[in-house]
Amino acid sequence: MGSSNCNLDVGSICRTLLIFCMVLYFVFIALSNQYPNCPASEFFSPFWKISSATNSISISSSVLSPTISNDSKTNLSHLVFGLVGSEKAWHHRKAYIESWWRPNITRGFLFLDKEPTAGLIPWSGASPPYKVSDDLTKFLKKTDVTAQRIIHGIMEAFREDHENLRWLVMGDDDSIFFLDNIVDVLAKFDHTKYYYLGGQSEFILSNHWFSFSQGFGGAGFMLSAPLARALAKDMENCLKRYAHLKAADLTTKSCIADIGVSLSPLKGLHQIDLRGDISGFLSSHPKSPILSFHHYDVLEPLFPSKDRFESARHLMKAANVDQSRLVQQTICHHRDKNWSFSISWGYSAHIYERIMPRSYLQKPIETFTTWTHSPHPPNYMFNTRGRSNDPCEAPHIFFFESIEKTSRNEVLTSYSRASPRGSPACASSGNHSADFISKIEVISPSTKRIEMDRCECCDVVRVDGMKAEVNFRECMMDEIIA
Ligand SMILES: *[C@@H]1O[C@H](CO)[C@@H](O)[C@H](O)[C@H]1NC(C)=O
Ligand SMILES: *[C@@H]1O[C@H](CO)[C@@H](O)[C@H](O)[C@H]1NC(C)=O
Ligand SMILES: *[C@@H]1O[C@H](CO)[C@@H](O)[C@H](O)[C@H]1NC(C)=O
Ligand SMILES: *[C@@H]1O[C@H](CO)[C@@H](O)[C@H](O)[C@H]1NC(C)=O
Ligand SMILES: *[C@@H]1O[C@H](CO)[C@@H](O)[C@H](O)[C@H]1NC(C)=O
Repeated sequence: MGSSNCNLDVGSICRTLLIFCMVLYFVFIALSNQYPNCPASEFFSPFWKISSATNSISISSSVLSPTISNDSKTNLSHLVFGLVGSEKAWHHRKAYIESWWRPNITRGFLFLDKEPTAGLIPWSGASPPYKVSDDLTKFLKKTDVTAQRIIHGIMEAFREDHENLRWLVMGDDDSIFFLDNIVDVLAKFDHTKYYYLGGQSEFILSNHWFSFSQGFGGAGFMLSAPLARALAKDMENCLKRYAHLKAADLTTKSCIADIGVSLSPLKGLHQIDLRGDISGFLSSHPKSPILSFHHYDVLEPLFPSKDRFESARHLMKAANVDQSRLVQQTICHHRDKNWSFSISWGYSAHIYERIMPRSYLQKPIETFTTWTHSPHPPNYMFNTRGRSNDPCEAPHIFFFESIEKTSRNEVLTSYSRASPRGSPACASSGNHSADFISKIEVISPSTKRIEMDRCECCDVVRVDGMKAEVNFRECMMDEIIA
């Protein structure tokens, strides 16, 4: 029927109806312009009310400043963590998580595959509260649902706690997070927009096998509130759509891609698909705040004289004072002796017996090996330098030992020699051995360094007996680090 009824007899009625409809239409358009943020759904309603309120404020200001919405600054209370682990592994992994979790301050949950057994009960107050993951075996009609349980954890974490949520941070039960840096980095993004922030693998083949555009779950990934909500809503369909995929992170990435969002990689998130001694990597960390750390179980301890747990706690001593500088590489030269100093704040210090430019020292020394067998280079997502015994190439290596506040309200970190270098002095640059240095002291400002447009600079202020003293400062306008 419809418009075919519009013959001569009822023509005038039709015209009246048409005009009436057009008037209604314009009234509707006018009204909906006035209320542009009418919620589309009442699903997750508490969260939705918040986000529609902030949206209506941010529309005009977002034109002026595209990345920051007119909102209070993001802090830890706006983040919810979803950690997915197994009951079996938690017995030994809980110490890793407890090294960074702040009880009653950090929000979030640990999702276990089953109820915790005797050794874990009563549940530690220093651990995240736990939940047992939803049983997906009936829904998916199969018994091995490991990958899907991890993905479904996103929805479960969102479901359990999304009031005032700005970012959902997902991780494994062996992910070590640096909370202050995570908050500072996330505060730079507009949480009312759609963001999928994650870390690529350091190992090229891992990215190739899974995806270059996925966030690796062990490194942790962050979903802004609107994306977390959209993904939670689509979760069951997404699990069905990608039932053929076995990898959790790849499935997550695929579901997010279908929402229309792609990965923004962050250089401070570390899957650590590396093996052995990663001191070379951490001594030339990219100029980006360190956000996480993973595969702690399979690495050699970060500090040669400590075990893994002690190493995590030791690194946290520096992290608790200043995460903005943690493992940031600062380089300066001692011209009297032709030495280069490279400090990875809170972790290590190197002395080289010749002048090397920053462009060179930025490349990690390849102290580590690949995650799995790799037939030929390139192996890593960054350039490396080989290990060398050449006295003009090999550093004297020192590791973080202690941290304290000075009477002038600066921060003093000290680094002590790991072992004798065992080679003669570098002859070509004047034969100035650094063998006698056993300790390096570094003074840094007590204020955080959030803007990372340029690295910090330093001066070697004294080389005295067995000790070298270095002061951090901002680089001068025309300073060249070479
Ligand atoms: C943010 O919004 C408040 C009102 O909610 C307004 O008073 C303030 O001027 C706005 N600030 C900016 C930078 O737009
Ligand atoms: C975090 O921000 C909220 C406002 O969104 C504020 O009420 C709260 O006090 C802040 N918390 C901290 C620890 O700064
Ligand atoms: C956390 O809060 C609970 C209840 O509010 C309290 O019993 C517990 O002692 C708190 N834990 C810490 C470590 O502050
Ligand atoms: C530093 O090394 C250069 C060669 O690279 C050499 O010419 C110069 O004399 C050395 N300076 C000192 C103080 O040893
Ligand atoms: C370098 O110094 C060592 C002792 O410090 C000395 O034995 C050696 O002869 C020197 N070599 C050169 C080439 O000057």
